Amino acid sequence: MRTQVAIIGGGPSGLLLGQLLHQRGIATVTLERKTKAYVLGRIRAGVLEAGLVDQLRAAGVGDRLDAEGFVHDGTVISYGDTQIRVDFAKHTNASVTVYGQTEVTRDLYAAREAMQAEMVFNVQNVQINGADSEAPSVSYMVDGQEHRIACDYVVGCDGFHGISRKTIPDAIRREYEKIYPFGWLGILSETPPVHEELIYASSEAGFALCSMRNENLSRYYIQCALDDSPDRWTDDAFWAALRERIPQEYAARLVTGPSIEKSVVPLRSFVSEPMRWGRLFLCGDAAHIVPPTGAKGLNTAASDVHYLSQGLIQLYDTGETQGIDTYSQKALARVWKAERFSWWMTSLLHHFPGQTDFDLRMQQAEVDFLQSNTHAQAVLAQNYVGLPY
Ligand code: APR
Ligand code: PHB
Repeated sequence: MRTQVAIIGGGPSGLLLGQLLHQRGIATVTLERKTKAYVLGRIRAGVLEAGLVDQLRAAGVGDRLDAEGFVHDGTVISYGDTQIRVDFAKHTNASVTVYGQTEVTRDLYAAREAMQAEMVFNVQNVQINGADSEAPSVSYMVDGQEHRIACDYVVGCDGFHGISRKTIPDAIRREYEKIYPFGWLGILSETPPVHEELIYASSEAGFALCSMRNENLSRYYIQCALDDSPDRWTDDAFWAALRERIPQEYAARLVTGPSIEKSVVPLRSFVSEPMRWGRLFLCGDAAHIVPPTGAKGLNTAASDVHYLSQGLIQLYDTGETQGIDTYSQKALARVWKAERFSWWMTSLLHHFPGQTDFDLRMQQAEVDFLQSNTHAQAVLAQNYVGLPY
């Protein structure tokens, strides 16, 4: 088999890239290790920057998003007794859209199927061959049969645990990592959200986040121990811990109910450079991970897809290589800004084991400055709604 761009990974990055390229007549094949149902079963964040919304509309998957997504013009940050509403409309000309990432992935799969995209599921033993040659290929097994795809380019959209990043030789690859000494315990409940906007809260008991999927589906998180497990938490214990961490005015009106999903996620900052090696490109979680505190995971994958799709379209339309030649540098410039913001939000709002009284006063001083300084709020707003591509 031969194609122009072989895409490894059928998550949001691979699906969006494939759709944008396919619309411009560029042939792709997407290889996914799991089944579509498995991919759609993942619960992930749900805050979309305008840049991602624009790309989804361009990819022909904006209708349900526009009909069911919630446009948010601000968010609440609380630390102890201090409460700040960061007004996106006041400080930026942008907003964010709250729409479950699972729905984004569902919409993208529907669009790929409508275009009869070449997608192979349940692939095993994917290997990238000759990425540093003029004739790369990808081999894989499915149903016990070995297959090989000759291609012009390979794009690794296979996430943090994929094989693409590790195809880049150790001597060339530089990795940067910070593992946080806590995780997030998240639940989904068929209850009305406690507030119309998201609440990022920090109290002596730790961090909590109040989010949502729709008017009767809420998503809540509390900071937990790194080795914690959902099995150790009854729903009642979760709700009690959440009430303890959010401002009392919200705790008093929190509507609780049975959890329909409960999971623990670790928090990590990670970047692998470069995001290109020969004819192999990396996109999304394959190259970088952020702690979810800034809601930047999917949104940073989206800017990677924007830069790379533009570069590949330029190449196939004009033969110009300027776009793909500057991809890694441009993508990483925005990735590192998202890493900084996510690290800053995480450092500000979480309680770290071994934190000294001085460390806590630094957090309080940062929050006091944020509360008292409109420019500080503008910086947070600009980063949260998404820096320009
Ligand atoms: N071969 C084929 N597919 C693979 C392989 C492999 N060797 N390894 C992983 N995959 C698939 C996974 O099954 C997954 O469906 O690649 C996909 C990677 O998807 P994500 O991990 O979601 O990464 P990405 O598409 O970059 O999404 C970025 O969306 O899912 C969130 O947390 C993620 O916020 C981040 C954003
Ligand atoms: C979510 O809704 O799951 C969510 C929202 C914002 C975040 C992280 C997760 O920062």
